[in-house]
Amino acid sequence: MLNGRRILVGVTGGIAAYKTAELVRLLIKAGADVRVVMTSGGQEFITPLTMQALSGNPVHTHLLDTDAEAGMGHIELAKWADLVVIAPASADFIARISAGMANDLLTTLCLATEAPIALAPAMNQAMWKNRRTQRNIEALSDDPKLFIWGPADGEQACGDIGAGRMLEPEQLAGRVKGHFDHGFLHGKKVVITAGPTREAIDPVRYISNHSSGKMGYALAIAARDAGAQVELVSGPVAIPAPEGVETIYVSSASTMLEAAQNAVDKGCDIFIASAAVADYRPDEIQEQKIKKSQDKMVIELIKNPDIVATIAARKDRPFTVGFAAETQDVVAYAEGKLQRKKLDMIVANDVSDQRIGFNSENNEATVLWNGGCQSFSLQSKSLLAVNIMALIASRISS
Ligand code: C5P
Repeated sequence: MLNGRRILVGVTGGIAAYKTAELVRLLIKAGADVRVVMTSGGQEFITPLTMQALSGNPVHTHLLDTDAEAGMGHIELAKWADLVVIAPASADFIARISAGMANDLLTTLCLATEAPIALAPAMNQAMWKNRRTQRNIEALSDDPKLFIWGPADGEQACGDIGAGRMLEPEQLAGRVKGHFDHGFLHGKKVVITAGPTREAIDPVRYISNHSSGKMGYALAIAARDAGAQVELVSGPVAIPAPEGVETIYVSSASTMLEAAQNAVDKGCDIFIASAAVADYRPDEIQEQKIKKSQDKMVIELIKNPDIVATIAARKDRPFTVGFAAETQDVVAYAEGKLQRKKLDMIVANDVSDQRIGFNSENNEATVLWNGGCQSFSLQSKSLLAVNIMALIASRISS
């Protein structure tokens, strides 16, 4: 699958470096031509000799090395690569590449190369969560030729639990293959609902909620970047339509359902319901503005159609993903919804937590499916969206 692809693997200092040996082996097995560059920190964890034996090529370690420059010089190496994969990418390396530094061979190559660069972060969970690291990641995320693969959640070498584990070699090799396959969702059609709905009471008033649409829009961008064709069915929000995504604006739950059904009718592989749909709507919409003549008034509400359950009940159902915004017993309620709405996957989060949820830039979530779950600690909605899309892609192909 990777026949003739030239992959430059960069190894920086971190315990996960031992896993990079397996990554190199998998890339070679898939037909790639691999060259390895190691920082001095990387060499503390795994030897250049191991990497040389696995890649079948001399390992590059120094910027100012006469012999190495006489062989394949650093600019030549930067031009040679079709893809640069930094695994593990330490907090220090991420900071240096984010600052545009060129103070060793690997950072210099990253500045000199025109090839896309993928970073596989690996570090202690507190270091990953640290505002300075997150700021660097956020800055790098703006670069369309720079991808951030991971990190995963779980137990760490130091005994901590949280986000910061390097993706497994198989996952990284899968991402490399996906990259050359024009993105891991290439050829897939994705329909996403996002934002709130507005349920009219009279011509000037409505019932709605605080959903900003940020999570759904981030998912649409992540799916687009992974090569999917994306249709976004959006309630009224204050953020711009993502470029390259067909965006259809709706207002009420009924119009959102109609637009979602129409989008799925055209063919859909993945349906993601991230919209905060109003559960009830006024039974009757008053034709004229209601006057404040009474001291007390009653508006009778009726239940709205359940959009995600309607899509999941279709004969030609796509892989259907719901969201569960809860304020207590988050995972238990989400599990109930997964079963009741017959979903393939549900993303659960605690909206009572001020740091995450409705209007925040960040989110923390547990994703559940039948027979499995994965937690994602506090991270930007855009990074969480990429992680969720990658998880969906791996569930579809498993
Ligand atoms: O039942 P609850 O509203 O908590 O379920 C949340 C999930 O169901 C979300 O994915 C939301 O988009 C979806 N939903 C829907 N139509 C509704 C209510 C919720 O699609 N009427």
